Amino acid sequence: MRRIAHALEAQLCTALERAFPDEVAAAQQAGTPLDPQLAPASQPEFGDFQANGALALARRLKQPPRTIAGAIVEQLGGDPAFVELCEPAEIAGPGFINLTLKPQRLAEELRARLGDGRLGVLSAADDPGHASSAELLAPVIVDFSSPNIAKEMHVGHLRSTIIGDALARVLEFRGYPVLRLNHVGDWGTQFGMLITHLKQVAPEALTTADAIDLGDLVAFYRQAKARFDADAAFQATAREEVVKLQSGDPVSRRAWQLLCEQSRREFQQIYDRLDIRLSERGESFYNPLLETVVADLQALGLLVTDAGAGCVFLEGVKGKDGQPLPLIVRKSDGGFNYATTDLAALRYRFAAAPDGDGAGRLIYVTDAGQASHFAAVFQVARRAGWVPVGGRLEHVPFGLVQGDDGKKLKTRSGDTVRLKDLLDEAVDRAEADLRRRLAEEGRTEDETFIQHTATTVGIAAVKYADLSTNRITSYQFSFDRMLALAGNTAPYLLYAVVRIAGIARKGGAGADTAVGAPGPELPAELRFSEPQEWDLVRELLKFDAVIAEVEEELLPNRLCSYLFELSQVFNRFYDKVPVLKAEEPSRSSRLALCRFTAATLKLGLGLLGIPTLERM
Ligand code: ARG
Repeated sequence: MRRIAHALEAQLCTALERAFPDEVAAAQQAGTPLDPQLAPASQPEFGDFQANGALALARRLKQPPRTIAGAIVEQLGGDPAFVELCEPAEIAGPGFINLTLKPQRLAEELRARLGDGRLGVLSAADDPGHASSAELLAPVIVDFSSPNIAKEMHVGHLRSTIIGDALARVLEFRGYPVLRLNHVGDWGTQFGMLITHLKQVAPEALTTADAIDLGDLVAFYRQAKARFDADAAFQATAREEVVKLQSGDPVSRRAWQLLCEQSRREFQQIYDRLDIRLSERGESFYNPLLETVVADLQALGLLVTDAGAGCVFLEGVKGKDGQPLPLIVRKSDGGFNYATTDLAALRYRFAAAPDGDGAGRLIYVTDAGQASHFAAVFQVARRAGWVPVGGRLEHVPFGLVQGDDGKKLKTRSGDTVRLKDLLDEAVDRAEADLRRRLAEEGRTEDETFIQHTATTVGIAAVKYADLSTNRITSYQFSFDRMLALAGNTAPYLLYAVVRIAGIARKGGAGADTAVGAPGPELPAELRFSEPQEWDLVRELLKFDAVIAEVEEELLPNRLCSYLFELSQVFNRFYDKVPVLKAEEPSRSSRLALCRFTAATLKLGLGLLGIPTLERM
């Protein structure tokens, strides 16, 4: 309903201008234009929208808010465009203006969307409620997943991968050029230790591809770390090894490449299972830029040497002792760190092409534990002038994944959970559930169906469980809950799509749930009479606003809640209103609602990275 909301907003502004010409002109001149404050109605009984602006205007105009609201409403009544769109506006409470769209307009709006594969979601470039077009053309970078080489991807990376992918999908659907960047940890001291250790215990790993697998690599890494912490001589050799690598020594480079490839292959298996696309651009990519970053901070007068380390002291961030905290960008041994790399990356991403990506918005998806790191990096970048005007910088934090006991998720033996095992178990359990259900229903299905369904449901359950909670809070990982067929879960929604599409198909409204897809002729006009029909129409028309909200606030759980709510509104409709047995023209109108609901669920789930099923 964004287009309608925008039209309504324009009508309200005109009404305001006609009612208070001098005040509006004066406010405009002062650079503080008056705002009618249009918002979705807070309660369905108030209509579709409300305009709350009269209350804020009361003080500026020195008149009671209800008088102001009355003057606006009078002007609206004289505007033919408004009269065509809305029922007469009503004043409520201290001076709210309640606005109810004419049912006919709602039906027309829905009908118009039926011919459109985007289901009425405008691309950002066409969205009248959107910011400048220059910003629209600028790429958006989503930095997500980003595991560390020679270490195993853990559940934190899984969360980042799932959330980042969903955000990228929504932004892509809205028409932004999106760069999905995998900022893998492929640089730094860990390679010095690992290479030094491998040279002694498994030299073949450094010269032959696939000599060891990632599990071994992880074990070697642990051993190397233990030696590094305990043995000064080993430490010194490891440091030399880092220097060799960073200065481009061919033998070290080759070893490093092999290690990276090994990890990369393993990561890719997870990405393939989750259907995630990512462009790898690891920390090493920024290595040639680090020197300049620090030199420029120095030239800008931001760099302070403190106990041998190059620091930028943060404004407004104090430690326990009340002293400002530093962001260290050069260690006392002269090496650069995670923060230096992030500064270089940020600068590169904003810099105009061909010297950088020319992005307009940078989104970083990591656990909440890195919030202060990003706040510090963002602050330093701003002070250094590396953030262009209008450039948006956002850290998208998420909480921990906890086990049933409320503690950090661990295996029974207390080890960290391997992602592969976690996905395997989800699929295995989905398969067991499916076989049980098939037996209960007395159905026989072939193995291809069973494997495909179990895989889709298992992976969908893991993704949806993660996306449907508010990402900022920690969430408890529970296979039982995420695989349940009832409640706000993936299996429930996948089942809803199958069921609703089935109704549409039975009624001859087309097997293909995609609304824009070629199908039987749609009724030229939709006719609705029952309140449950109107509730469903209104719910369906909210979809575009929900997508716009996810784009803005980067909260995929909003989309999940919407899809769940939509399926509930549908159930209330289907409980009360006959569809297949209804008379025309109700029958085709109601079938169109079924088809549209299925299509919305399908598209919405798709934007969360969850494919739907034809049958279950
Ligand atoms: N490799 C890091 C980790 O595993 C995440 C990197 C996130 N992205 C970034 N630009 N710092 O914690």
